[in-house]
Amino acid sequence: MVQYTLPKGSKPKKGKTWDGPKGANGKKPKRTKEFRVYRYDPEAGGNPRIDTYEVDLSSCGPMVLDALIKIKNEIDPTLTFRRSCREGVCGSCAMNIAGTNTLACTKSITDISGPVKVYPLPHMSVVKDLVPDLTNFYAQYASIGPFLQTKTPEPEVEWKQSPEDRAKLDGLYECILCACCSTSCPSYWWNSDRYLGPAALLQAYRWIIDSRDEMTGERLDFLEDPFRLYRCHTIMNCASTCPKGLNPARAIGEIKQLLVKRGV
Ligand code: SF4
Ligand code: SF4
Ligand code: FES
Repeated sequence: MVQYTLPKGSKPKKGKTWDGPKGANGKKPKRTKEFRVYRYDPEAGGNPRIDTYEVDLSSCGPMVLDALIKIKNEIDPTLTFRRSCREGVCGSCAMNIAGTNTLACTKSITDISGPVKVYPLPHMSVVKDLVPDLTNFYAQYASIGPFLQTKTPEPEVEWKQSPEDRAKLDGLYECILCACCSTSCPSYWWNSDRYLGPAALLQAYRWIIDSRDEMTGERLDFLEDPFRLYRCHTIMNCASTCPKGLNPARAIGEIKQLLVKRGV
């Protein structure tokens, strides 16, 4: 049965308040911002907690990731999060910031009024602090066969594609697999064991419409399933949260149309 409230052991409690470093005059810097950050350490046990950090914005970069790095470097080295590129390209710093799934490295601190609330991506098991367990998410991505599959013998030089066919991949190939969309999708929250979710389905469509791929029928066969594809109810959370401005719901709709057409 679907559970609508957090289990007792998952409810975050009030944690520690960490004052930022004081200025040379012993006073708080003028431009400080409060960050309320979800903390959970499975080895320590107990409930997660929300720690509060005061960050001096006058010596901090402009993005939420800059503040998290500053907290880790200068205030609390135990804070754990993922990041790599700092340019919105790798997708590893995806988290829930001020109530929205997004990338910490492209989310401006000044866009957020009041304290900045930072949580891990929702409805995922937490490995530690802001790091969600993406094992199932990546397994679902692997299940759609995210690579060119052909039957005809390989050409001597390269698989060719017209500019028009290449343009059909726009709005799809830019996906960085950050998981913001899938973890904002209510259908995925309740059925992530069987529903592939918007990210994997957008990637599936990216290969279905690639003019060079020759496994379209097999790809559609795999998706024609009440759970893998048809758990999408066009709620559109995925499109409104994607930090790359992509629209997984539209890709899912296109797959459904292809299935209808081939069934006629
Ligand atoms: S579609 Fe957007 S939100 Fe979803 S995984 Fe790709 S980049 Fe992230
Ligand atoms: S449109 Fe589909 S995939 Fe996107 S959030 Fe809604 S149910 Fe999920
Ligand atoms: S650190 Fe790579 S997307 Fe944010």
